Amino acid sequence: MRINRRNFINLSSLGIAGFTLQGFVNKESMQVQKPIVIATWDAGLNANKGAWEVLSKGGTALDAVEKGVMVTEDEISCCVGLGANPDRDGHVTLDASIMDHEFNCGSVAFLEKIKHPISVARKVMEKTPHVMLVGEGAQQFAISQGFNLESGKLSESADKTYQQWLKKSEYKPVINVERQNSKNANSQLEDKYKAPTRFSNGDWNHDTIGMVALDANGNLSGSCTTSGAGFKLRGRVGDSPIIGAGLYVDNEVGAVVATGQGEDVIRVAGASAVVEHMRQGKTPQEACRLVVEKIRRIKKEKAADIQVCFIALNKNGEHGSYALHNGFNYAVHTNEGNKLIESPFSV
Ligand code: GLY
Repeated sequence: MRINRRNFINLSSLGIAGFTLQGFVNKESMQVQKPIVIATWDAGLNANKGAWEVLSKGGTALDAVEKGVMVTEDEISCCVGLGANPDRDGHVTLDASIMDHEFNCGSVAFLEKIKHPISVARKVMEKTPHVMLVGEGAQQFAISQGFNLESGKLSESADKTYQQWLKKSEYKPVINVERQNSKNANSQLEDKYKAPTRFSNGDWNHDTIGMVALDANGNLSGSCTTSGAGFKLRGRVGDSPIIGAGLYVDNEVGAVVATGQGEDVIRVAGASAVVEHMRQGKTPQEACRLVVEKIRRIKKEKAADIQVCFIALNKNGEHGSYALHNGFNYAVHTNEGNKLIESPFSV
């Protein structure tokens, strides 16, 4: 059939065909890859396994992205959960966010002594009229919802790293390109599932776990949880709990999560910007690249001192990523298995 503007519109309205930058696509023959879950860094392999337990049984993307990142919150690593590096005053403060396929979202920031900030973020979404709770208020809310107040004691590895950091107390970001496994609780894991943990110099680093999933019903959700920048100023909050910056989900288009230097993700409303590029027809990787390149232009020569990375999943189950610097990877779990993908990068 010859496609002219008029019958193209008619076909589109019937949902039979659509036009993308790649060309004319027959939606009926298009294979949607679902269910699928993707997560940041090699810690994402274990997190994906948690999510897959939900997705493989026909569960929702929302349940999957909560359960998935809880796995990482339970592990000891530099940058997620109560075992992570503290702020410069020696307190671990946690940020997390979650978003579903209907623009429902919840987040917590500057939360202390609670083991699963992602689940508190979900409670904020489901049990309050608000999107975000912070600090003492977030902690009070968590306790009211039945979460235990933990001791606040640093993990052995975080304490060691903190004592080392205190010797110089330098407040200086280091690009997260050097993945080095530490001898901590990750040693219980098989080598290939060890999380990236800390730098040899123990300085500022980022390994936020971010996850986005598409379930068997074709719905998207996302989650993000982190202790933020190690040895940060007390009260510092990064991009991860900020909807539109660290995480964004638009069920008509795709879902995106960020990791890296939160300040620079916030200034470009990063995750939301990537979703908007996908809405314009860009592939997930190209959409991520455009936002990373924007950050690179904004930062000029200072781009050498930071890392930022995005992962994106579109409505068809196509995924992609892009990082400012080398060293970023992400894990992808489909019916065919769970694997790590090295991300393309800018410089
Ligand atoms: N991307 C995590 C943070 O900057 O806190």
